[in-house]
Amino acid sequence: MLLASLAERRMNGEPIAWITGRAEFGGLSVHVEPGVYVPRWQSLTLVGRAAARLPDRGTGIDLCTGSGAIAAALRAGHPAARIVATDSDGRAVACARANGVEAYQGDLFAGVPASLRGRADVVVAVVPYVPTAELRMLPRDTLHFEETSHYDGGPDGTDLLRRVVTEAPRFLRSGGALLLELGGEQADALRPVLEEVGYRAVQTWSDTDGDIRGVEAILR
Ligand SMILES: C[S@@+](CC[C@H](N)C(=O)[O-])C[C@H]1O[C@@H](n2cnc3c(N)ncnc32)[C@H](O)[C@@H]1O
Repeated sequence: MLLASLAERRMNGEPIAWITGRAEFGGLSVHVEPGVYVPRWQSLTLVGRAAARLPDRGTGIDLCTGSGAIAAALRAGHPAARIVATDSDGRAVACARANGVEAYQGDLFAGVPASLRGRADVVVAVVPYVPTAELRMLPRDTLHFEETSHYDGGPDGTDLLRRVVTEAPRFLRSGGALLLELGGEQADALRPVLEEVGYRAVQTWSDTDGDIRGVEAILR
């Protein structure tokens, strides 16, 4: 009976991680509650690059943490580091805490303890970055089960990306790194903003198809 109901949920297209309560992410088994964004292996590139920027006893901030998978993966590689995470959705924060992450509810940096101002070595974020008009092109099951607030990045997808770029200098130390996952031409759109705000050494990374999937920059 139970098996039949689990199979029916899956056949209806519900994410398997919501049915089993777990997702594999970079060798970690991450608890994922129904309604919480399922971490994608594609974000492991961002994790690897951020880990390389994080000192052993450093401080990292993971915005829009969802299940806390990225924060947990960073901490797994740097057990003595302090990784703080935030999400605006209370279900995500509860899930991240269940994954052992120091997580707070709030809009972007609003939940980050003020004591971390100017002290973060690394800020990472997988924010919603799908342009609103492209939401309808997401897979059918994604649209049906997941919330648009996980994906909708505004008209060109960069609403939250731009906010993170401009707000991160309050928490990053000089020389600290900002790493953002993104898509399409968004790196080109962000480059002038990054330079204007005071970042240097702007680099991008690409996926196996050669499409730009992330941007990394250092605060002067
Ligand atoms: C694309 S998911 C990424 C989740 C996680 N970083 C991951 O990669 O598994 C985006 C997350 O951003 C959260 N979110 C959306 N708008 C937000 C905001 N203004 N402030 C904080 N979190 C937000 C959503 O609740 C969702 O958990």
